Amino acid sequence: MQTKFLIPSHNDLKLISEAEKSFFGKEFGINLIKNHVKNSGYAIIVTTNGKFSGHMISNISRLEAEIITLLILPDFQRKGIGRSLMIHFAKYLINKGVKYILLEVSVNNFQALEFYSSLGFNSVGLRPLYYKNDNVRSDAKVLKGNAEYIQNFKVK
Ligand SMILES: CC(C)(COP(=O)(O)OP(=O)(O)OC[C@H]1O[C@@H](n2cnc3c(N)ncnc32)[C@H](O)[C@@H]1OP(=O)(O)O)[C@@H](O)C(=O)NCCC(=O)NCCS
Repeated sequence: MQTKFLIPSHNDLKLISEAEKSFFGKEFGINLIKNHVKNSGYAIIVTTNGKFSGHMISNISRLEAEIITLLILPDFQRKGIGRSLMIHFAKYLINKGVKYILLEVSVNNFQALEFYSSLGFNSVGLRPLYYKNDNVRSDAKVLKGNAEYIQNFKVK
């Protein structure tokens, strides 16, 4: 299995936008993604054996990065790709002098909670009723990870 992490082209932005819509059911338009990237953000796509297999969009400030969205497409999940992406991202951040990664995740998103926990993320806060899916609201945990620690994980 060959996994690559690439800066998205304009066509890739369309793939990201479509994947967001079909998986999370929410618009994440191309212009919004471009804005994130322009305003100190970082977007990346993952290809596995040449096929689009996932993406991540983040905002980066001086000491912290915030993951806005992260998705590994269902056919590619549980193969170590998400972890490889986080290792890749952590190395990128360390090179920029950024130490911490923050994100929100629904208290009901078991797979994501397990995923981040396996990379040493800790819960540092709770945002009540943060998400709304099909008119059902759920709390979000705020998780914090250490880039130095994450970069030392081994790729599967
Ligand atoms: C969460 C997500 C990014 C994980 O990516 P992935 O490539 O499937 O994860 P990996 O294969 O790298 O898993 C690494 C570790 O995370 C944990 N993990 C990942 N998926 C899991 C699951 N479904 N159940 C339990 N543990 C899981 C395991 O500890 C796993 O290690 P192991 O396979 O050696 O046991 C992916 O499932 C996904 O995109 N989910 C839908 C979107 C989402 O929830 N995004 C996050 C929102 S912030």
